[in-house]
Amino acid sequence: MDFSGSAAVNLIGHGVAQIPAAMAEQAADLEFIHSSQFTTPVAEEYAQELLDFAGENFRGGRVYFTCGGSESIETALKLARQYQVEIGQTKRYQILSQHQSYHGSTLGALAVSGNRRRREIYLPMVKEFAHVGMPYCYRCAYGCKDCARQYAAELERAIGAARGEAAAFVFEPVSGATLGAAVPPDGYLQQVAEICKHHELLVIADEVMTGMGRTGRNFAVEHWGVAPDILVTAKGLSSGYAPLGAVIATQKVVNAIAAGSGSFVHGFTYSAHPISLAAGRALLRHLREGKLVQAADSIPPETVAAKLSRSLDSLRSLRAVGDVRGIGLLWGLEFVSDKASKLPFSPELNFAGRVGKAAADRGLLVYPVPGCVDGVAGDHLLLAPPAIITEEQIAWAVQQLGAAVEEALVAN
Ligand SMILES: Cc1ncc(COP(=O)(O)O)c(C=O)c1O
Repeated sequence: MDFSGSAAVNLIGHGVAQIPAAMAEQAADLEFIHSSQFTTPVAEEYAQELLDFAGENFRGGRVYFTCGGSESIETALKLARQYQVEIGQTKRYQILSQHQSYHGSTLGALAVSGNRRRREIYLPMVKEFAHVGMPYCYRCAYGCKDCARQYAAELERAIGAARGEAAAFVFEPVSGATLGAAVPPDGYLQQVAEICKHHELLVIADEVMTGMGRTGRNFAVEHWGVAPDILVTAKGLSSGYAPLGAVIATQKVVNAIAAGSGSFVHGFTYSAHPISLAAGRALLRHLREGKLVQAADSIPPETVAAKLSRSLDSLRSLRAVGDVRGIGLLWGLEFVSDKASKLPFSPELNFAGRVGKAAADRGLLVYPVPGCVDGVAGDHLLLAPPAIITEEQIAWAVQQLGAAVEEALVAN
């Protein structure tokens, strides 16, 4: 059983026949055009549907389609820079971001990512900007005292230190792979958005993992009423049926470019690939018809997401489980060698990897990630099942997971 949606990709389940059917129909009609010269009905119609899905904040905006998360992040970073140039703020080019974040594998995305292990050897190749702390309640840098404000204040200081050169702030509303579904304290994202607005930085929400319903809202920023200027999404956008990512920009950003040079200086050969767009469009319809975003909402007690949350809570009693955290259908399980002191396992043990292997041997796929404490130490699993999971399947999966944790401890 796929209990992590591969890598938090799949929200609708595997083998949904309508998606490949829509792709085949599109392929038979028109398989490809180059988007610098042409557009397609599927691109125009799907972009409008996606803007509607993203909500009122994106009315009059536009969508830039790519083949995945990293390409979308690169696109968003360049779009933010071009926006600042178009409005005459040519000094602004720095993109501020968070420690322990992950925004992708390409060099621009890597520059704004904060996870040590995933970027260390490439650092000489990238231009570094400031990183600020990412809220992490289990190991809160401020002892959870006024921490929403304290973390937000870090951003304000970083903007000051950038001396008028900061163009945008990019963040994951809920930490994805690298911290394992750490949900920020209430007020943090609202304050961050306010600070960015005050200092005229664009707000870029990286919803590659959290978008398209994964947390029980169309986009996770909606939990906190935050309205980003640019929203980046991928993974659940196509649930893995086709390579697809999207950058959704507000009218403010679009208008600045339209009124300036008139076009975005950017492009990939496979931007807005019609077959991928057909998959995404069919997926969006399926999401709506199946009420899957509602199913992924862990707040009402009767949803599968709420059942998952309650069931995972039972794992807290295990000796090696330090924290269970998350929202919707995105959960993290952090392991520690000592609960009282929160001491992580030694990185050489690869404890999360061992749990992952023991779970796989039992027929359960999870996503083990090392490094949540400081980029190297720390072990957690990311759990991101599809919204069609049943109560019985959750019960079985959590039972197998508990047994896998115990097995990894014994083998320790
Ligand atoms: C938050 C976030 N941003 C960006 C990416 C990069 O996406 P991709 O692997 O599709 O390039 C990921 C991938 O895990 C992600 O979780």
